Amino acid sequence: MYDTTVKFPFPAAHCRLVAGQGAASKLRSVVSKVGCSTMFIVTDRNVNKHYESQLREYLNGVRCPGDILVLPAGERTKSYRYQLKIHDWLLKKGADRESILIGVGGGVICDITGFAAATFMRGIRHALIATTLVAQIDAAIGGKNGINLPAAKNIVGTIKQPVSVIADSMFLRTLRPQHLREGMAELVKMALVKSASLGKLITHYQSSHAEDREELISRIIQQGVKLKLDVVRKDPFESGLRKILNFGHTTGHALEALGKYRQMTHGRAVACGMLVALELSRRLCSLDDETVAWGTKRIRELYRSFPIAGISPDGVWEVIKRDKKRVREQIRFVLLESFAKPVIHTVTERQFRSSFDRVTKSWSGKP
Ligand SMILES: NC(=O)c1ccc[n+]([C@@H]2O[C@H](COP(=O)([O-])OP(=O)(O)OC[C@H]3O[C@@H](n4cnc5c(N)ncnc54)[C@H](O)[C@@H]3O)[C@@H](O)[C@H]2O)c1
Ligand SMILES: [Zn+2]
Repeated sequence: MYDTTVKFPFPAAHCRLVAGQGAASKLRSVVSKVGCSTMFIVTDRNVNKHYESQLREYLNGVRCPGDILVLPAGERTKSYRYQLKIHDWLLKKGADRESILIGVGGGVICDITGFAAATFMRGIRHALIATTLVAQIDAAIGGKNGINLPAAKNIVGTIKQPVSVIADSMFLRTLRPQHLREGMAELVKMALVKSASLGKLITHYQSSHAEDREELISRIIQQGVKLKLDVVRKDPFESGLRKILNFGHTTGHALEALGKYRQMTHGRAVACGMLVALELSRRLCSLDDETVAWGTKRIRELYRSFPIAGISPDGVWEVIKRDKKRVREQIRFVLLESFAKPVIHTVTERQFRSSFDRVTKSWSGKP
């Protein structure tokens, strides 16, 4: 199990991260160390369905009294409406500045819990028990939180470190395969930009039998947590290094937006974006065939094809330009020089178009 306490300089905060098999059993010790007047748990219906008795145990296991609020599952919960619901509930239940708010769920619950905690009484402490792979290796780490507006995703939020993040692989037993894939796509990205050893673990995981997978995924989570932590510690405000985590995301975000966030999930769109980025890297940065083949194989294990047959590269390019607020110039992409060696490289429309076309030829079809 990985158990470490990290100091963030600004805003000054300590965060204890516990990851791997058995991590959830540490909640009691985490909460008793930070001390609190009352403990409040926010979760969603799916997580509550599977883990209700465990959530009650969390509450009974600590000395401070509290309650559980169960929100609907899904992206629409990341809204002012549910932020208000959390705040009203906290007030009604007698929360004060010494209370702790604990989010138990995927990225949606982590994001709204962090934001609700950051804004209630100008900030109360919060902790996150991440129950999806995406939350464990990405959303719960780094302190970014927030909600969506009808016209834009993740547009309102703050950066506030939780006092603790708990990432226990046990929760993944009940997770749907498509949600597991979302996290795997981000892990493939992390390996490509930062870690050959994570790459080896993912290769091993994808070719392993079901009975070995929990042990392997536990190791993958621990590595993923360490890698994300390493990046956010060096760049808490996303001014430089953290950009490498955008590998595959420039195209991915455009594909999500073009499909009005209904056609492709984030992980699927990023996986497709990574194929384009690998192809661009091969052409512009002489990326070796072995790395291209590795990335392609990992993505093939996750997704057989992408619904991109009718999408014109010009349309994707327009959305990328709009996102980056560029009119004419080239766009800066995160590309790869070699495995785990990212580079920021400018890309022209013509270069993008031919790489996108190549991906379309071999990957379009029904997902
Ligand atoms: N703050 C950040 O840095 C950051 C980073 C990445 C993603 N995010 C955000 O995270 C969100 C996506 O996160 P997600 O993929 O975890 O989505 P999610 O929270 O919607 O969870 C996916 C689904 O799995 C269910 N679920 C959660 N845990 C479960 C479990 N253990 N067993 C069974 N079902 C379970 C949920 O109810 C939901 O239906 C997006 O809103 C995204 O913007 C934030
Ligand atoms: Zn992502």
